Amino acid sequence: MKNKLLILNHKCNFTMEEMTSYVKVLKTFPLDNIILCPSTCYLASSKLDNITLGSQDVSLYNGGAYTGEVSARQLKSLGVNYSLVGHYERVNYFEESLAVVHKKIENLLQCDITPIVCVSESTFSFGMDSLSSIMNNLDEVLDSFTDSELEKIIIAYEPYYSIGSNIVPTIDDLNKIFKNIHEKYPKSKLIYGGSVNLDNIDSLNTCPYIDGYLIGNLSLDINSIKALSTK
Ligand code: PGA
Repeated sequence: MKNKLLILNHKCNFTMEEMTSYVKVLKTFPLDNIILCPSTCYLASSKLDNITLGSQDVSLYNGGAYTGEVSARQLKSLGVNYSLVGHYERVNYFEESLAVVHKKIENLLQCDITPIVCVSESTFSFGMDSLSSIMNNLDEVLDSFTDSELEKIIIAYEPYYSIGSNIVPTIDDLNKIFKNIHEKYPKSKLIYGGSVNLDNIDSLNTCPYIDGYLIGNLSLDINSIKALSTK
């Protein structure tokens, strides 16, 4: 996709064998605007050489006796340059708080990894009514960062009701929400995520403040990603 970032969020999918055949095809694409976020267990694979890698999460801790955790420093040592943080599934299923998201952003910046900060309205609001909820959530995780830190941060607006649902906000609502986010955080790149597909991509591409997309379900189908990258 011309100049738009495509962030592929595989979530908890693919065996090693499936990953190997996926990556073989992915490597034939122009990779400049693609960030691949596979399951953590694949981040160290030499099969992923030459692909820009993102992690789906990072530990709250910088290292030590925290069984099962992977720190920002460890991710960096694998060549990971991006990390999702605060994804709605982390908030919803693992009760991650905004304070935890804030700390994870700090850890990533300290290790020179670009945080892709996911934000949604809280579940009590919907559509444009949700603007103040989105801005409050964003302010809570981002307010203490300086302009030069914000320049390194990517903000991904993913309405909770759009994730995996095939429901996308209207373009009018998206334009208003992204304009507000841009006015408050002019230094940060802005991403839309939630049910991005081949049918809605042309209209999403008309939104002037959207610099790219965070793609879940569709990212598992390499042929769809190929089609999307030519849009
Ligand atoms: P979806 O997921 O594209 O399947 O809606 C997006 C995401 O959760 O990042």
